[in-house]
Amino acid sequence: MTIANLLFRNARLIDGTGAPSRTADVAISDDRISAVGNALDIKALEVIDAQGLVLAPGFIDAHTHDDRIVLVDPAMSSKSSQGVTTVVTGNCGISIAPVKIKKRPPAPLDLIGQEPDAFFESFTDYFQTVEANPPAVNVVAQVGHSSLRVMAMQNLDRPATASEIDTMCTALRKALEEGAAGLSTGLEYPTAIAAPTDEVTSLATVTAEFHGFHSTHMRDEGQGIMDSLAETVHIGKTARIPVIISHHKCAGLPNHGQSLNTLPFIENAQIQQPVALDCYPYVASSTVLDAVRVSKASKTVVSWSTPLPEQAGKDLVDIAKDLSLDLEETIKTLQPAGAIYFNMDEDDVRRILSFRTTMIGSDGLPHDKFPHPRLWGTFPRVLGHYSRDIGLFSLEEAVRKMTSLTATTFGIKDRGVIAEGNFADLVLFDADAIIDSATFANPAKPAAGIAQVFVNGARVWHNGASTGVRPGRGLRRQSLTPLHFTN
Ligand code: ZN
Ligand code: CU
Repeated sequence: MTIANLLFRNARLIDGTGAPSRTADVAISDDRISAVGNALDIKALEVIDAQGLVLAPGFIDAHTHDDRIVLVDPAMSSKSSQGVTTVVTGNCGISIAPVKIKKRPPAPLDLIGQEPDAFFESFTDYFQTVEANPPAVNVVAQVGHSSLRVMAMQNLDRPATASEIDTMCTALRKALEEGAAGLSTGLEYPTAIAAPTDEVTSLATVTAEFHGFHSTHMRDEGQGIMDSLAETVHIGKTARIPVIISHHKCAGLPNHGQSLNTLPFIENAQIQQPVALDCYPYVASSTVLDAVRVSKASKTVVSWSTPLPEQAGKDLVDIAKDLSLDLEETIKTLQPAGAIYFNMDEDDVRRILSFRTTMIGSDGLPHDKFPHPRLWGTFPRVLGHYSRDIGLFSLEEAVRKMTSLTATTFGIKDRGVIAEGNFADLVLFDADAIIDSATFANPAKPAAGIAQVFVNGARVWHNGASTGVRPGRGLRRQSLTPLHFTN
């Protein structure tokens, strides 16, 4: 009889599929789940009495900007503390590779690194660096369209020429060969807003050859959102690629309630082609500081500023008063900077979160001095606040939105479901106690109720602290399930 490394006894098993929870034992041998069942007749080096606790698949953060933080802070406490075991990086058109630059990167690339040497020339370099000094979580990496533009173009305020598109396609092909999983765009950002739909379709077509996916921070999440959804679906259809609508929201006061239109549109498109979406559970967004976003928000809080770092965490209106400047001058004085914008409607957030195919993604910004609380709070907030306290959906459904649904959407193989043979990415939590602790006033606080977290069979989080063990892997495209465009 083989001896398992670890055996959970009498856990409330939520397996990730959405099936009702049941009491079960789960055994881990090396990096895999070796048995699941009732009263397992198995010996183990360590037995955990999991009575009264939920055992679920480790959460997959569908939307992150963790490209560089996995290297510089590999304990990844912001994510391990929430039960996250895999992060999808390279979102919103911003990726750490393939970028070769000599000066400070333009916004929004500066959200992940402010120095040229923060970026990597190739995904081979990047994955090798991840593997040489592994983080506590697994990493799936996307190629960002804005990163490709920065690499291929001198001026970003115009469409790419045919030869520049060629250069980007060649770099994209190489990145996908080297393990990048898909293509992301951030068409609302100055680095990409001048890109016509066809430019994106060309790149998406290359990505489709590799059976990848295309995720997008759409051109407009405000009044033009229906046009942006149409553009996204069109790109998917033309390039024959699954698309993912990033951090779906209806931003700006005049746009509140629009999810009554966007969700039926998405649902209808899903009949024709693969369309996925992710969402974070807050009514405020966060990105670089700009005047247009400020004008559409009911309140703006500065999350970082290079020239005035001491202003991070303060309301923009108060900063303007302190500096005796008008808002416009204050914004200029703070640049480069980031901000948190209160710009959404709670009803939209709830409607989008409860939509059947919405995945949970934090969109956390780990390098911000005063980050949006989504960085530390997203997953426990969905489980504790929205599922348990508000009753928006069952705990099983909440877990499905952060595990199997996400694994299937991205093609992440053998993860996202607790089943024999799958990787032992697991989270043990207290369903009565789980809750986000990070707030807009105190944003970098670990959540309550997460007992233990395992990645590839190794314990990374225990009793409110990182164990220092870092078993995460770079999940190259070659290890993922190829995605197909089906209609
Ligand atoms: Zn974005
Ligand atoms: Cu993002």
